Amino acid sequence: MNTLTPRLNVDRLLLQAPMAGSQGSALALAVCRAGGIGALPAAMLTPEALVQELTALSQGTDRPWNVNFFCHTPPAPDPAREARWREALAPFYAEAGLDIAAVPAGAGRVPFSHAVADLVEPFRPPIVSFHFGLPAPDLLARVKGWGSVLLSSATTVEEAIWLEAQGVDAVIAQGSEAGGHRGMFLTDDLTTQVGTFALLPQIAAAVQVPVIAAGGIADAAGVRAALALGASGVQVGTAYLCSNEAATSALHRAALQSEAARHTQLTTLFTGRPARGIPNRVMRELGPLSPAAPAFPTATAAIAPLRAHWEKQGRGDFSPLWSGQNASGCRSAPAADITRELLKGF
Ligand SMILES: Cc1cc2nc3c(=O)[nH]c(=O)nc-3n(C[C@H](O)[C@H](O)[C@H](O)COP(=O)(O)O)c2cc1C
Repeated sequence: MNTLTPRLNVDRLLLQAPMAGSQGSALALAVCRAGGIGALPAAMLTPEALVQELTALSQGTDRPWNVNFFCHTPPAPDPAREARWREALAPFYAEAGLDIAAVPAGAGRVPFSHAVADLVEPFRPPIVSFHFGLPAPDLLARVKGWGSVLLSSATTVEEAIWLEAQGVDAVIAQGSEAGGHRGMFLTDDLTTQVGTFALLPQIAAAVQVPVIAAGGIADAAGVRAALALGASGVQVGTAYLCSNEAATSALHRAALQSEAARHTQLTTLFTGRPARGIPNRVMRELGPLSPAAPAFPTATAAIAPLRAHWEKQGRGDFSPLWSGQNASGCRSAPAADITRELLKGF
C-alpha cells in the first residue's frame, strides 16, 4: 500500500533526485512549484551553505521537499595508498605544470552527523534521504523524531530488506542505469548491480514499504513502466541535469547533450566510490576502476586541481561528467517543463 502520498499530502510521488555538486535549492524549488518533490543534496555543502539553502527551501514552498545526506564512514588515513594515487596522477600534474606536493589531503564530502543534525533540526524537513545506507541508530532515531519521511537507496534486494528492517518509510530502488554514485552499502561487488527492470519488481516483492524507482527514467513512458513494475513513485536525476535551474557546468551540459552520452561507465577515479559518468581522458588513461584511487571520499582531493586546470581551458578531461545510461531526456528547459512532462506518466 502506498502510505506516502497521504502522509506527504501529494497525489503523485515524482522525486527530483538530489545531485550533489550539480544543483541546489533553485532546482528543488522549481520542481516543487511544478508539482514534483524537489531535493537539496547536502553532501558537499558547508554548514553555512546548508542553513542558507534550507532557509530558501522552507520559505520558498509549502509542498514537501527532501534533504539528502551521504552516510559513509570516513576511511582511516592511508598514506601508502595516497602515495600510489599521487604517483598515478604525477604525469598529468607535470603536463599541466602543477605541483602535486601542494595538494592538501582532504575529504570533500562529509557524512551526516549530530553536528549536521543540529543545523537541520529547526527546519523539520518533510523528507530526509540518505545515500550509502543509513546513519547510526541514535542519529536515525533523532531524524525519525522530527517526523520526517525517511528514505534511502537500495541497489540489491538484500539492501532493500535491510533498509526496511531499520525503519525507512520507503526504499529507492536504484537500478544500475542511474547516474552518479551507486548507493551500494552491503556489498562492493559490482556484479550484484542490476538494471531497474530487474531490480524494481524483485524489491517490490520483497518489502512491504513503498518502492521508488530510480535509474534510466527520462520521460512519462519511463514513469509508466516503473509504476507497472510495482513502483509507487519515481526518482529522476539525469533528466534534470540540463534544466535551466541546475548548476551543471557548460562543458558537462555539452557532453550530456552530445552523442558521447550514449556511453557511460562506472568509475572510482573522482571520489573512490563507483559512480556512473561519461568516459573522459582520465578514465580512459587510468582505467575507470583503477585500484590506485583511494577510498571514498579521499580520491577527490588530488584530482580536483587537474579538474580545475582543464576546466579553465574548457576541457572536461578530469571532470566527473556524471550521467545515467539514459540521457535522452536532458533538455535545456525550465525544470517545471521537465516535471510536468514526467507527471503525465502517473
Ligand atoms: C549528477 C548526479 C549527482 C548525484 N548525486 C546524488 C546525491 O548527492 N545523493 C543521492 O542520493 N543520489 C545522487 N545521485 C543519484 C540519484 O539519486 C539517482 O539514483 C539517479 O540520478 C537516478 O538515475 P538517473 O540519473 O538515470 O535518473 C546523483 C545522480 C547524478 C546524475
